Amino acid sequence: MNICIIGTGYVGLITAAVLADIGHHVTCLDNDPNKINSLQKGIITIYEPDLEDYLKRNKTRLSFTLNMKQAIEPAEVIFITVGTPSNDDGSPNLTYLFNALDELSKYMNSYKTIVIKSTVPPGTNIQCHQRLQQNGVNQELYSIVSNPEFLREGSAVYDSRNPDRIVIGKLKEDHKSISIMKSVYEGINAPFVVTSLSGAEMIKYASNAFLATKISFINEMAQICDQYDVDVNDVAKGIGLDPRICPHFLQAGIGYGGSCFPKDLQALEFSAKKKNIHPHLLKAVQTVNHAQADYFLKKVKEHFPNTLCTLAALGIAFKPNTDDIRYSPAIKIMKELHEKGYTIHAYDPKATLSNELKHILQFRSPYEAMKNVNGLLILTDWDEHKNLDWKKVKQFMKGQVIIDGRNCLDPDVIKQHGFTYIGVGR
Ligand code: UDX
Repeated sequence: MNICIIGTGYVGLITAAVLADIGHHVTCLDNDPNKINSLQKGIITIYEPDLEDYLKRNKTRLSFTLNMKQAIEPAEVIFITVGTPSNDDGSPNLTYLFNALDELSKYMNSYKTIVIKSTVPPGTNIQCHQRLQQNGVNQELYSIVSNPEFLREGSAVYDSRNPDRIVIGKLKEDHKSISIMKSVYEGINAPFVVTSLSGAEMIKYASNAFLATKISFINEMAQICDQYDVDVNDVAKGIGLDPRICPHFLQAGIGYGGSCFPKDLQALEFSAKKKNIHPHLLKAVQTVNHAQADYFLKKVKEHFPNTLCTLAALGIAFKPNTDDIRYSPAIKIMKELHEKGYTIHAYDPKATLSNELKHILQFRSPYEAMKNVNGLLILTDWDEHKNLDWKKVKQFMKGQVIIDGRNCLDPDVIKQHGFTYIGVGR
């Protein structure tokens, strides 16, 4: 099939790579000349395992352009994967989505399936349909499909190639789109969940809200576990074996971050309030999440009351296997400690501190960052941090306290090496 993808951000690029891998011809369109220029040269600016390899091995089926007419006219299917960043009031900014629709409306020369992959609030896809009609696009020339994306950064290519489910939202009277979408995803072995346009939008928000709820739940349990000398990791294991609960997303720590959970929970809360629903649980999940970084900071301050201490902080990214620092709780923690007067030595295998934090020293190896520090903080659970050479760490550090904000180390191993281990709820 001939597929066009509008928006070469994270989701757009991964979708393009995977659809090209399936065998489709994919044209990626963006209005940022720098991005398109780099992509044409094979340079990608995000770090995501396997992405470069996928783009390389499918490069004969991939092209990158700034030219809307050239990209839209031959396309049978158009994916829209533009960003929907948060407005100040928590609602998502839909300007990029509507601009893309307005632009593509000019080049609707043959029947096209328009697939909205951007995460948008319930009711938006219907609005997109109405917008196309207002733009004078003949209703016979298109169908609109909502096809949310559930990929996780750090394993995005794998998730996209091996999804648990493919959610398709469509209009009741649309009898064409399902077979078209089955051809788009040919060869991918996953159940199709077919629903209304708003149903698909809700599935995406509800998924993220539920996962965030699990994290805030276990984080709250961790605070209680701390008071009763219980290891929250044992609790997570003990409850997770119940298939009704399942073991995933029960890792307590410093709270969730990233480009999805914080934004999507805010947006869902906004959508609820717009209809006079007061979402107490969604609010609580976010409150617990904000408080979790503060809870960790309290532990740091208790163990290091002298704010002139130097602390090594391992992890900048919001999670391992990505260089993404958006809404990273690690950043929040480093910033606060730095403002209180602590000297922070930061390290991350891939992520870099933003300009705003350039006064914090970032080192090129974890051991360099630990040299003569009073304490060690684990802020992102990269494998590299879990597998440090603890004998070497002992030689490099001046102090002996390790505060594991991700509960990713084995306390017994750490203690055997002569350290004091502090976790979150352990
Ligand atoms: C999430 C969803 O998982 C994905 O389906 C959706 O498409 C986009 O949002 P992502 O933001 O890439 O994906 O990362 P995820 O692995 O879900 O982690 C989000 C945050 O939660 C990270 O900060 C992570 O460290 C934290 N987390 C995750 C925990 O604190 N505990 C856990 O048990 C799991």
